[in-house]
Parts: sequence; structure tokens; C-alpha cells
Amino acid sequence: MYGVEEEFVVTPWEVRGRVDYDKLLKHFGAKPLTSGEVALLEKYAGEVHPLIRRGFFYAHRDFDFILKWHGEGRPWALYTGRGPSGPVHIGHMVPWILLKWFSDKFNLEVYFQMTDDEKFYDDPEMKLEEATNWAYENALDVIALGFTPDKLHLIIDTKDIEPLYPIAVRVAKKLTWSTVKATFGFTDSTNIGLIFYPSLQIAVAFLPTELRREATPVLIPCAIDQDPYFRLARDIADTLGYPKPTTLYSKFIMALTGESKMSASNPDSAIYTLDDEKAVKRKIMNAYTGGRPTAEEQRKYGGNPDICPVFHYHMLFDPDDSSVEKIRQDCRSGALLCGECKLKLHEKIAKFLKEHRDRREKARGKVDQYRLSQKIR
Ligand code: TRP
Repeated sequence: MYGVEEEFVVTPWEVRGRVDYDKLLKHFGAKPLTSGEVALLEKYAGEVHPLIRRGFFYAHRDFDFILKWHGEGRPWALYTGRGPSGPVHIGHMVPWILLKWFSDKFNLEVYFQMTDDEKFYDDPEMKLEEATNWAYENALDVIALGFTPDKLHLIIDTKDIEPLYPIAVRVAKKLTWSTVKATFGFTDSTNIGLIFYPSLQIAVAFLPTELRREATPVLIPCAIDQDPYFRLARDIADTLGYPKPTTLYSKFIMALTGESKMSASNPDSAIYTLDDEKAVKRKIMNAYTGGRPTAEEQRKYGGNPDICPVFHYHMLFDPDDSSVEKIRQDCRSGALLCGECKLKLHEKIAKFLKEHRDRREKARGKVDQYRLSQKIR
């Protein structure tokens, strides 16, 4: 299991405690993103996305390799996914925003896996139809980012298994029980669906190479908790004749309640894309902050943006560096009180959500146009 000492636990299914991101990297064996790699990205993209510049995406495996590969004019693709266990919150959208940016900047196709099977295996209460239904609903949030069907290829595991299955079978043959047990912390009482499932998440990393019949590595932007899958994928890629997938890892989105990660069990810890305006305002105004107990103390000593979810969301959703920097400084100096800072945030989030919901509704009924299996028939 990926319990890094006692103070926190990170696995693909659980994040608990206050995460020490540097320790986690060392434990997983991924590398911190350096200024050299960021400069290389800038060279090819012409700019660097704020989510990378501000260190929210902070680690990787072979990110430099895929940029150089790109520099040689060779083909690559993007891959990420979502476990459709319920509605999408704005934290889920953050890596997808970066995904869209990469797709636009480098003119890349995106393979997006909806793992209804995984969520069904993982949650004793979940019905399969329910998870599949969430896959379709969540797909609307992905499409709403502005993807066209020629760029976004959706794979809903229980619906679109065909192109994936032969690859998953080859992957499964290379993975022993002892390896997946040690990697994911499975036990004798884990159902065998969950035990096979990693082969499917790994298979998508090799799919573009199969479809194009030429080496087409993927870049996978995702949260750091998904690293165990891609570490295994990289271990077996060579023997299967596929290029190793490369990854770019983010930290977790802070919960509005101040914990390291938002949790589905507490709806007030996150803002969902379909929350109504009142709920959005209430959640933001009630959020935990890095502020002082009284306005007077805040004016005198200032607040702490580093532990504050309200500041964290400003950092994630405001593209303007100087505006974010001003909030940071005014918080620290005590010039900005939490109430006012929350109102500023509410303005940004409400605008984002309004535009998002319009585009989301426009995508309704179009999901099948994006499904890979409908296109390669
Ligand atoms: N396992 C992921 C989840 O529970 C879903 C997923 C599938 C994924 N393929 C992926 C996430 C690739 C990141 C990258 O959310």
C-alpha cells in the first residue's frame, strides 16, 4: 500500500491526511518538474500554462522525452480518464483544462477513458447502470471544454471495450498477482474485477500506437495518485513493443473544508458543475480559510494563503498572474479580509460555471459522436 509513513495515505482509491508532495514523489520514484523542462515546453508551445507555471502540475515521468520526440516531428497523443462515480466538481476539471491546452497547442488527439467498470468494482453500493450513466453525464463536462469529435476520443469501458481488449489481454499476461498486489495493496478479499482492471487503464496508454500502427507515445496529465498504473505500464511497455507512456502529475485540489483532497462523501467540500448559484455562493462563503479568527487580528497579522482553499482556487482559476500575486500579498499583509477575498472568488467561479453549463447543455445528445468505437467501426 502507498501509506507513506503514518501522516498520510495516497492510493488510486484513497487520499487521507495532509499530503507531503515531495515525500510522495520520492516514494513513487517520479521526478520533480524542473525549470529546464518548463523552458523546453515554452520553446515548443510558445508559452507555459499557469497550472504548470504555478507549480500545481509539479512532477513527471519522461516529460522531457516526449517534448524532444515532438521536436523531432514524431507523433504523440494525450491520454487521461475519469472514474465516473458521481457528478463532476470543478477540481476534476482542472487537469482537463490543461489537457485541452496541450491538445490545442500541439494539435493532439485525446484519448479519454471513462472507467465505469472500475467504479462498479470499487464501490459495493454502485450499480453498473448507474456508473455507466455517470460516464455519459461526465462526458458532457469534458466535451464542454470545447473539444471537437476529431480531437477527443471517448472510451466508456463497458461500452467501447473492443479496441482495448486485445491490448488489455497482452498487458494482463505480463502482470503477475504478486506485482499488482504489491503495487495496489490488493488483498485476498479484493474482487477479481478490480485485480484485472489495471490492465485496462494501462491498455489505453498503448492504444494510439495500435491504431496508428506506428510508435505513438502518450502524455498523461493526471493527479499523482494515478502513478502506480503508469509505473507498471512503463515497466512492461518494452516487452510488448510499445513506447513507454510519459506522465505529468498534479497535486490534489484542496477541499473547501481545508483537507488535502475533496471528498464525494461531503458535498460541501467541493463545487459541482451543476450546483445552483445559491449553493456555489454558500459553499464559497462558508469555506475554511487561512485567515485569523477576527478581522482585527487579520488586519494586524495577515492571513496564510498557503493553507487556504480560497486562495488555492484563485490560483487555479485566475489566469492573470498579477491579480493572483496581489491577492497573495494583500492576504499576507492583512489588507484583504477573507469575506472580500471569497466574494472575488465567487465572481470568478460563477462566471466560469455559467459559461461551462451553457456549453455542457449544448453537448447533450452528442456523446456518441465522440466515442472511439463509433468512429472506427
Ligand atoms: N482511475 C481513474 C479514476 O479513478 C480513471 C482513469 C482511467 C484515469 N484512465 C486514466 C485517470 C488515465 C488518469 C489518467 O479517476
